Amino acid sequence: METDARVLDTQHVPQHEDILVARSDELTALTQPVRDFLSGFPDTHVLITGPTGTGKTLLSKFVIERVWKEDPAVETAYVDCWEHHSTHALYRELLRPLGEHVTLDERGVSKIQLRERFRQAVDDPYVVVLDELVQLDDLREFFTLYGMENVFVIGACNDSDDLLARMDAAEQSRFRGGRHIELNRYADAELCEILRKRVQYGLDPAAVPDAVIERIAAGAGGDARVAIESLYKAVREAGRQNESVLSVESVPAAIDDAEVTIRQRSLSKLKRRQRRLLTLLSEFGGWAAMSDIEDAFIERYEPVSRETIRKHLRALIHYNHVEEKGKKRWKRYRAVTEVDASRSVV
Ligand SMILES: Nc1ncnc2c1ncn2[C@@H]1O[C@H](COP(=O)(O)OP(=O)(O)O)[C@@H](O)[C@H]1O
Ligand SMILES: [Mg+2]
Repeated sequence: METDARVLDTQHVPQHEDILVARSDELTALTQPVRDFLSGFPDTHVLITGPTGTGKTLLSKFVIERVWKEDPAVETAYVDCWEHHSTHALYRELLRPLGEHVTLDERGVSKIQLRERFRQAVDDPYVVVLDELVQLDDLREFFTLYGMENVFVIGACNDSDDLLARMDAAEQSRFRGGRHIELNRYADAELCEILRKRVQYGLDPAAVPDAVIERIAAGAGGDARVAIESLYKAVREAGRQNESVLSVESVPAAIDDAEVTIRQRSLSKLKRRQRRLLTLLSEFGGWAAMSDIEDAFIERYEPVSRETIRKHLRALIHYNHVEEKGKKRWKRYRAVTEVDASRSVV
C-alpha cells in the first residue's frame, strides 16, 4: 500500500517545505531574524517553545535548511542537546561542520580550550540550532555562544520556565531579550491537514478514508508525532491483515501502539540519572515527596544535590514519564511510565 514510507517516519525530516501545515507564519517569523543577522544587523537569539509534537524540531530544521539554500556560505549546525548534553559533546558537534574533529582521546581537553578552539574556528556566520536546550548540562554555554559575534543561536525546548529557573538575574534579562515563538498544540483540523499531506506524498489516497484521518486526529491530543505515528501503525496493521483500505475500527489500537512506541523511544534517550530517578519512582508505586526521592536516590546511587534531582524530575515531567501534584511542601511526584529495574541499565 505504501509508496514512500519515509513520510510516515517521524524521525525523518521531510524534503519538501510544502509538507509543512499551519506553521508558515512561524517559519517566516523564525527565518527573518536569521536573515537580519546574516545581513549584518546584530540580532539576538530565537527561542521556540511548545509541548511535544508541535513542530519545534521540524521548524528549526527547515529554518537552517532555508538559510543554507539562500546562502551556501553560511555554516549551519543542528545539535540535539539531549543526545549531546555535555559541554564536550556540544563543542564536538559544533566543531564538526567546521571541519574540526575532536577525537575521543581528547576527552581530557578542558572546556576553556574547547571554547577557544571553537571561537578560533568560526570566522563565517554560523547558525546553530540547540534543540532540547534544557538538557544541556551547563546552560552557560548557551550564553557563550550567544555572545559570539558570528554565531546565531536558535534554541528549542518544551518550556522556558525550566530554562529561566537555571539562570541568574543577569542571564534571565539577556535571555528575555531574544525573540520567543510559542507553539500551541494543533487543532484537530490542522492534524487532519498534516495527515492528508503525508497521505498525498507517501500513500495511496484511496487506501486512507477521510473518516480514518479524522478519527486519528481526534485521538492524538494535538500532537503531530502521535498522529503521524498512529497513521503509520494503522497502515502497517492493515498490511499485515492484507486489507487494502484502512478501517476506522483499527484506529484506537493504532494510537495505543503509537504511544507505546513513542514512549519507548523517549525512554531510550534518558540520561543515566533520569533513568535512575524513574526507576526509583516506579518502584515507589505511588506519590512521593522530594525528600523521600532524594534520600532513596542518595542511598541507592550517589550523592547529588536536590537541584540536580529537581532538574532531572522536570525533564521527566516534560517528557510525560512523571507527573506531579500539589504545591510547595505538598508537592508529590509519581511515575507514569513503568521501567523495569531488572532490565534497565542503571
Ligand atoms: N506543522 C507541521 N506540518 C507537517 N508536519 C508536522 C508539523 N508539525 C510537526 N510535524 C511532524 O510531526 C512530527 C513531530 O514534530 P516535531 O517537530 O518533531 O515536534 P517537536 O519537536 O515539537 O516535538 C514530525 O514527524 C514532524 O515532521
Ligand atoms: Mg523536538
